[in-house]
Amino acid sequence: MSIDIAVVPVAGHGTRLLPATKSQPKEMLSVGRKPVVQYVVEELGLSGIQRLLFITSHGKASIEQHFDFDEQLGGYLRETGREEQLKALEFERLNMEYFYTRQRRQLGLGHAVLCARPLIGSQPFVVALGDSIIGLHAQSDIVRRMISQFESNHADVVVAFEEVAPEEVVHYGIAQPAGEVSEVFQLEKLVEKPSREEAPSNLAVAARYVFSPAIFDALTRIKPGKGGELQLTDAISLMLDGGCKGLGVTLSKTERRFDIGNFDSYFRTFAEFAMSDPEYGASLRSFVRQLLDREET
Ligand code: UTP
Repeated sequence: MSIDIAVVPVAGHGTRLLPATKSQPKEMLSVGRKPVVQYVVEELGLSGIQRLLFITSHGKASIEQHFDFDEQLGGYLRETGREEQLKALEFERLNMEYFYTRQRRQLGLGHAVLCARPLIGSQPFVVALGDSIIGLHAQSDIVRRMISQFESNHADVVVAFEEVAPEEVVHYGIAQPAGEVSEVFQLEKLVEKPSREEAPSNLAVAARYVFSPAIFDALTRIKPGKGGELQLTDAISLMLDGGCKGLGVTLSKTERRFDIGNFDSYFRTFAEFAMSDPEYGASLRSFVRQLLDREET
């Protein structure tokens, strides 16, 4: 059976988005009409994922509630003649089984993935970050393409990459490809936040991964970094150094990564999604144009 399980870490503090994230998860912030994490789940559904394990933490209960059936709300909308609005709840019926476990201390993304070990066991699995959307309105099947490469090439790890501008490489884990780069390439190494001069490519890690269970051993062998955090990229590097087979899959030109982890990227993402809303996008665009014209005069 093809891989149909994904781990979605949503346990981080989201300190870069304070005060918005003081009492609500950053993964529940709205981008256009939907919370970020709903886009992530819908995208995974498009790629054939049917079992989803959230790594949650204190203060993240609204994520669980969001994916529950809300019979009361559905009943209320029907009784009051607002059937039209039921469409907004259609995501409740996605063919997805939800599981939850807690990361009790926020010891980094690597540690969050390690929390999945007792439930994932010895099967390969996907990891999708809960604060990153792939493709405008999450229209992407990147995970399906990654799973297909993982299976047909008997890989141990497949990482999604996005091309970034040369001055941006300092913010990301960057791929060192083993040869020519095309849609799929051999991954030799990952270099964490290199300088522009030292960067082996301009391909940045893009929030989606497929792993064999060997990642769990690697996560127990790496040393914690700043603040006791376990970095997922360190564990991937350890796997690659130890001879595991790594592949990179590049996002296509129409699949951008929208990371909402800081206000700059959150504002841009919200603006782009809202301006392409089928109902309100056109009027918002003309409103923004008016604002900008006013600024220039
Ligand atoms: P970030 O690296 O953006 O960290 O997480 P963060 O803690 O959420 O945010 P800042 O740096 O304080 O602003 C990327 C993804 O990994 C999850 C987050 O919830 C987010 O979806 N994560 C991060 C965890 O699940 N656990 C962690 O310990 C850290």
